[in-house]
Amino acid sequence: MNAQELIFTARELVADDKGLLAMDESNPTCNKRFAALGIPQTEDARRAYRDLIITTPALCDSISGAILYDETIRQQTKNGTPFVRAIIDAGIIPGIKVDTGAKDMAGHPGEKVTEGLDGLPKRLAEYAKMGARFAKWRAVIAVGDGIPSRDCIEANALALARYAALCQEAGLVPIVEPEVLMDGAHTLGRCCEVTEEVLGRVFNHLRSQPVMLEGMLLKPNMVVPGLAFPTQETVDEVADATVRCLLRAVPPAVPGIAFLSGGQSAELASARLNAMNVRFKSQLPWALAFSFARAIQQPALAIWRGEDEHVAAAQRALYHRARCNQAARRGEYDAAMERE
Ligand code: 13P
Repeated sequence: MNAQELIFTARELVADDKGLLAMDESNPTCNKRFAALGIPQTEDARRAYRDLIITTPALCDSISGAILYDETIRQQTKNGTPFVRAIIDAGIIPGIKVDTGAKDMAGHPGEKVTEGLDGLPKRLAEYAKMGARFAKWRAVIAVGDGIPSRDCIEANALALARYAALCQEAGLVPIVEPEVLMDGAHTLGRCCEVTEEVLGRVFNHLRSQPVMLEGMLLKPNMVVPGLAFPTQETVDEVADATVRCLLRAVPPAVPGIAFLSGGQSAELASARLNAMNVRFKSQLPWALAFSFARAIQQPALAIWRGEDEHVAAAQRALYHRARCNQAARRGEYDAAMERE
């Protein structure tokens, strides 16, 4: 492991108020999003869609890194350029999702544990050789009656830490993603409690593996009430609760926190990130950035719908969302940007 390179890459991923574009949906997830819009669920349609994203003009103005899926990292643009090469040429750092999915946890109904540690060193070495400089692993924590259990949090936190240590050994910056899900009718207070506990366990395991905190990024959920909870707090209340929770749980050595969007609307995700930066940016030890999938891609996907003649308009929508989120990092986003 070259510590300086890891630190450099981790910092580069959150520099200049840019953020990450998660385009690493697994085939089943990508197909589900395509099916909802009547787009054919084929390998070529997935390739064409990722081509559209990667060739968006000037995407590197606001996007520092792109997270790919195994199928995508082996594909090429329609001109025959490998996607990794096209991303690097576009001024963006390529990354790769390396977990193999969240699976039902034995003896723990309603809970999942993320798999993918078996054979991971070999896969990491292959991805690094292909040009990837960072990786991602997502754990999911459901909130409900009697869950999450301590066992589920522990199993996922340990797997995240083992993955992160292996990444650093392979020269890849690990993005550590413990996602407390928005599904359910829990309060914002409950989300805060669970998020703080999960992050606490994750950092305990990261320290004991040991993982160099300066050479990783955290990708957490924002602290929000469950989607089915009848009242939703204001943007500022969500910003306050999220930052308070992170200040308690995330060591200052971590260079950046890049949120997932988790099913929030694109506008709300931008507004909440903006509020955090308006209210707290100058007092925080880490950068507050974004690593959105749906909140950057969804408007573009809905415009594209699998049609070649919609590519340019979809790329404009993607570029716009990326710019909105860069503005949110600066605390300069406002609803008027949505009318530009
Ligand atoms: P969303 O922003 O759509 O939650 O996706 C982020 C992600 O990378 C999930 O692993």
